[in-house]
Amino acid sequence: MHEEKFEKLANIKRQSEIGGGEERIEAQHNKGKLTARERLNLLFDAGTFVELDKFVLTRATDFGLDKKRFYGDGVVTGYGMINNRQIFVYAQDFTVLGGSLGEMSAKKITKIMDHAIKNGCPVVGIIDSGGARIQEGVMSLAGYGEIFYRNTLASGVVPQITINAGPCAGGAVYSPAITDFIIMIDKTSHMFVTGPEVVKTALGEDVSFEDLGGAQVHAKYSGVAHFIAANEYEAIDIVKRLLSYIPQNNMEDPPYVIPTDDPNRIDNKLANVIPSTPYEPYDVKQIITSVLDNNELFEVHQYWAPNIVIGFGRLNGRSVGIIANQPQYLAGSLDIDSSCKAARFIRFCDCFNIPIISIIDTPGYLPGIEQERHGIIRHGSKLLFAYCEATVPKIAMIVGKAYGGAYIAMSSKHLRTDINLAWPTAEIAVLGPEAAINIIFRKEITDATDKVSIKKQLIDEYRSKFANPYVAASQGYIDAVIDPIESRPMLIRALEALINKKESRPFKKHGNINL
Ligand code: HXC
Repeated sequence: MHEEKFEKLANIKRQSEIGGGEERIEAQHNKGKLTARERLNLLFDAGTFVELDKFVLTRATDFGLDKKRFYGDGVVTGYGMINNRQIFVYAQDFTVLGGSLGEMSAKKITKIMDHAIKNGCPVVGIIDSGGARIQEGVMSLAGYGEIFYRNTLASGVVPQITINAGPCAGGAVYSPAITDFIIMIDKTSHMFVTGPEVVKTALGEDVSFEDLGGAQVHAKYSGVAHFIAANEYEAIDIVKRLLSYIPQNNMEDPPYVIPTDDPNRIDNKLANVIPSTPYEPYDVKQIITSVLDNNELFEVHQYWAPNIVIGFGRLNGRSVGIIANQPQYLAGSLDIDSSCKAARFIRFCDCFNIPIISIIDTPGYLPGIEQERHGIIRHGSKLLFAYCEATVPKIAMIVGKAYGGAYIAMSSKHLRTDINLAWPTAEIAVLGPEAAINIIFRKEITDATDKVSIKKQLIDEYRSKFANPYVAASQGYIDAVIDPIESRPMLIRALEALINKKESRPFKKHGNINL
């Protein structure tokens, strides 16, 4: 009786699902890319994805768009389950007008974001787009503005994750940039504010897509990309793994996983991790992986600012954020990039109720003209601000050097860290021994006939007085000096003691972090 109507429905669905058509789907595959729908099939638990706004039609008609009206308008949106958790999604469809954003596709995306915020669910955005739809002029710019506004509203309320699976150019880059995590795909994703052609026109410089805004560039140098995936499958796995550590929203706790690792496990290897000669490098990841459940660290920003390591792990089943100085690079000093990297991660963990574990071995903030001119004061303060502001359980473990401002900045008691542990190898002082004696005993050293032996004597004296954790512990700034081999059980017990922590800060509209 209603056959015609059902036929019409099936016909529109078919048109919507085929996007820009078979030829363009083939072109997408020939570029080594999946289509938006294929990506969603991989992302969601089988059969759980529900599409919204399949019937939305391109509305603009200028510049020939009246002949290119597409159902869906170049983006697939909806919701579904990822490992049994409700997630909202949008995936741009490059086969339709190059995935460009027009009035209607923007409306579809903002609808999804509104749902996610209201319902307390993470949003995953898959970008593959030529940016603002040129034919739609200010309507598409307005669409981006509406998206940026929602990205900002959602920030700190629900996790936002972006997979950049193709081009992302112009102001369009700023939506991913506001989200919490960006995953780029090697040799496939490109992000830049102006493309190679504009760079050539404006500056006369020749640069390739890859060198200007490829995944390697953003993962290593700019810090725009948190993760680099070898292909789209790996990118989707990264999303799933990331979600496993983070809660649905800022009112919930992160997922608890029944632990399979012994909470009392000790590790004898930790007794010998810290080299006996100062400034000899070692890999702090030995300590991180030793203490975490099943030795698993899910590192974030692995290739950017490697002098600090950040990432997720679990302690007796509970999700934690790890921040650790890495003596293997720049001796573990804090520079501009590492301060920004750690500060943003701390703020993410604080937004989403993820306790913060800091492992400290740093000689201080990196000195030098380069750092000063680029604003180490401004950027370095972000780290202090982020630690001070964070009210989640905070546990610190000083394993080596904690000198000067970096002692304070790296989760010291003075920034309201809850439990501060130290290894016997910890050295807490205003300056390292050599630099300190050169300043406070300058005259004595200059006047001495045997400068080498007086210096050695002064350094030894300074080291035995300050280069240890006991002065700080005698003041209660360190709660316990522990045997390194017991680090895991001690961190777990500290975390379990703090798990119901409630701490508030004075009411304010928001702080004014030194951006
Ligand atoms: C309308 C677009 C488009 C756009 C691509 N297309 N980008 N249509 N608006 N922004 C269309 C193309 O015309 C083409 O349609 C189809 O999509 C596929 O594009 P190709 O160029 O054939 O693909 P490819 O060679 O892979 O190159 C992809 C690309 C390139 C690198 C993205 O298309 C490109 O440079 N596009 C313009 C990028 C850009 O400058 N966008 C504006 C950025 S400014 P047909 O029908 O011919 O096949 C911006 C401001 C946002 O976004 C501001 C927010 C505040």
